[in-house]
Amino acid sequence: MGKFGFEKLKLPSLRLPFLKRQTLSIGLDIGSHAVKICEMAETGTGYKLVALGSALLPPDSLEDGALQDPEAVGKIITSLVNNLKIKNKKVAISISGYSVIVKKINLATMSEEALEKHIESEAEQYIPFDIEDVYLDFQDLKTHAADDRMDVMLVAAKREVVDGYLNMLRTAGLQPVVVDVDAFALENAFEANFGLADNVALVDIGASKMNINIISQGSSILARDVVLGSRQLTEQIQNLFGISFAEAEGLKTGEFSPKEKQQELEILFANTCSQWVAEVKRAIDFYYSNNPDETISKIILSGGGAKIQGLLEFFEKETAIAIEIFNPFKQAAVDDRTIDPSYLKSIAPEMALAAGLATRPVEV
Ligand SMILES: Nc1ncnc2c1ncn2[C@@H]1O[C@H](COP(=O)(O)OP(=O)(O)OP(=O)(O)O)[C@@H](O)[C@H]1O
Ligand SMILES: [Mg+2]
Repeated sequence: MGKFGFEKLKLPSLRLPFLKRQTLSIGLDIGSHAVKICEMAETGTGYKLVALGSALLPPDSLEDGALQDPEAVGKIITSLVNNLKIKNKKVAISISGYSVIVKKINLATMSEEALEKHIESEAEQYIPFDIEDVYLDFQDLKTHAADDRMDVMLVAAKREVVDGYLNMLRTAGLQPVVVDVDAFALENAFEANFGLADNVALVDIGASKMNINIISQGSSILARDVVLGSRQLTEQIQNLFGISFAEAEGLKTGEFSPKEKQQELEILFANTCSQWVAEVKRAIDFYYSNNPDETISKIILSGGGAKIQGLLEFFEKETAIAIEIFNPFKQAAVDDRTIDPSYLKSIAPEMALAAGLATRPVEV
């Protein structure tokens, strides 16, 4: 075992996408608002959706990507798995937040063994954490930018945070086999449905964070987490009208919409959604400044926040780029008799990460 425990990473690993496909695990997206689960099966020509569902989590279950109440979250996951009659115990999860560092580095071309040695001895210079405290993984991006240079993606995740998830899942009777990064899971879901499309910006708007991921010619050029999300709106609505969290959620999602509050709500939505758009524009501008000849053909919105009424049109107007709401099951076979089409349609945008995790190849 090397200093960084590479062997230990094999099960679970942070990301091992080039492994031979042998089986699929369950995709489990533990968000700060809800846990989403997705089971897929391979059909020979693609994927079939086997099961999916979500369950709300108590508001303080997660804090900046770290698990705060493992017992409560574990119980909710167990009952979700049972309700959906999921038998597979192998799960793939993803993490994000302050405890994860993703860094692209450019090195002189070297063999895989030399690369492993290099990372092992030089990781400290790339990562702002004590190396003893992190799980480390890397991947040759095989971009072949220049024959004598190579691009390598380096991922470091705080052991304490990762172990918190692993222990919770094991206690819940599950077997974690992959620990991925949210941005990669999103990218994986995109690839499964769009292949190597033009340059696009994937934007996942969750409850407490936004993930912006610019994909160019099939690989991620820029991935950014922003601490803004749909819970902001709920809290603002709570404060504005002096109502409970549940009531504010109802107002936000349009469950009830009293006329007298409409105008105030619209102003509040416009202000907050402007902040979101500004972040997306900033990322796109940054991309354009480095790639002046390229064009972003589409922004693909996912996450529960993407379901805010009128958001698509607002983004379209502000960015002048075509917007699409992400359907991560676009290419998957779905049996209407086992999965209600209207439920699927309404939950699809939130399921992007879980779907991306469910189609991640796993070594068994
Ligand atoms: N129809 C809707 N209109 C507006 N907002 C909605 C709607 N449906 C869900 N949301 C909001 O989306 C958020 C949940 O989205 P999602 O499940 O993607 O978040 P999460 O993954 O749990 O959070 P995060 O990724 O930030 O940790 C909640 O804030 C919820 O109120
Ligand atoms: Mg999320």
